Amino acid sequence: MSKKVLIQTFGCQMNEYDTELIRSILMKVGYVFVEDELSADIVMLNTCAVRENAHRKVYGRIHEIRHNRKKKDGGSVMIGILGCMATNLRTDLLEDKNLKIDFIAGPDSYKRLPDLIRPTSAEFENKPFDVTLSEFETYSDIYPSRKNRVNAWIAVMRGCNNFCTFCVVPYTRGRERSRSPENVVEEAKKLADEGFKQITLLGQNVNSYNYEKYDFAYLMEQVSKVNGIERIRFTSPHPKDFPEKFLELMAHNPKICKQIHLPLQSGNSRVLDMMERTYSQKEFLHLVDKIRKYCPTIALSTDIIIGFPTETDEEFEDTYKVMKEVKFDSAYIFKYSERQNTIAARKFPDDVSEESKTERIVRLNVLQKDISLRKNEAHVGEIHNILIEEIDTEHVRGRTDGNKLVTLPSQNYALGDFVKTKITYGSPYSLKGVPST
Ligand code: 5AD
Ligand code: SF4
Repeated sequence: MSKKVLIQTFGCQMNEYDTELIRSILMKVGYVFVEDELSADIVMLNTCAVRENAHRKVYGRIHEIRHNRKKKDGGSVMIGILGCMATNLRTDLLEDKNLKIDFIAGPDSYKRLPDLIRPTSAEFENKPFDVTLSEFETYSDIYPSRKNRVNAWIAVMRGCNNFCTFCVVPYTRGRERSRSPENVVEEAKKLADEGFKQITLLGQNVNSYNYEKYDFAYLMEQVSKVNGIERIRFTSPHPKDFPEKFLELMAHNPKICKQIHLPLQSGNSRVLDMMERTYSQKEFLHLVDKIRKYCPTIALSTDIIIGFPTETDEEFEDTYKVMKEVKFDSAYIFKYSERQNTIAARKFPDDVSEESKTERIVRLNVLQKDISLRKNEAHVGEIHNILIEEIDTEHVRGRTDGNKLVTLPSQNYALGDFVKTKITYGSPYSLKGVPST
């Protein structure tokens, strides 16, 4: 009988995408996927190591799985750790007797999973693991097993060469490498044939995409030529790679959504320098102006880290000021959390007190909530083209070109329909609307 596998995914979209790759790899060799933890023979946790709380959640989950199984029938379940924690914490995970991890696979080792989890594997007794990072693996030969039928993620590059001092990603996911444009376009065509309407190009620094002489603007343009794909998004870009040529393409290509997730991290130039983000406050503000000049309706979101080592109250005020000035549509705001092996962990003590971090994050969240509310209320009365992504008995949900979630009353819509919608209500997090005639 086929072995049943449950994968639980933590963290970012790249991990969600990798889970789709893993499903495809294992389904090919006869594994079946289940949602119910208690009926699974193997539970895989596709983990994130970017921040402390992501990390803690995984430890909690491992204990919970063992406990639930014991309560149910005392039976055994194999537990494997995949993703960024696998690379980062291999030794800790294997040596922790309480955790009893059965196998470990890092982000570049998923093709080896069938070997790693085969119970007859010679390595089995020795806890099989593979966390080798590759300079070449892009999984370009694997067609992910996707659950969503409207939007498809395509990872066009993997890894990161930037080494921002706070970030563990360059260590857990290795160096940058990109797939060929032909290979990406071929996948986009296949997706269009299957009825997908939207593609989101993914990468740790998606706009640093580089394959031989081809850059990100070239790739986006090629993907936009695929018939049937109506919307293209990308995430996450780095502010350092926005040439005018790309902004021009964005402005004039109707398929490229007018939305950018643009991580600021800090509004203070000294802190940005310590983070090695390669731009100053002034340069970031200049980029935002330039983007808005090309695309006046652009929806901007961002990531912020508060309480980076040595950040003073005055320096935090710069972040507050920049956020007030830029008015992002939304923002993910994090407390700095020291990550093993990063440059910041080696060079700078985590010296901002927990009280200051809490105070700063609360203030920024209050500010951002107010800005998001105003921005969303300003959409009331406008007509937007909504791509339907979710349907239940009373409502359907879809997104605007700017990626804002809109709920509208159910009618005979199908997933992937575009509905002209008049926005009637805006909250800080979403919009409501009615079909417009
Ligand atoms: N502490 C807090 N936030 C972090 N991020 C990355 N590393 C850390 C860290 N050590 C945040 C950044 C990044 C997002 C994905 O996670 O804001 O853009
Ligand atoms: Fe981390 Fe910086 Fe690379 Fe983003 S660009 S993954 S924040 S090192």
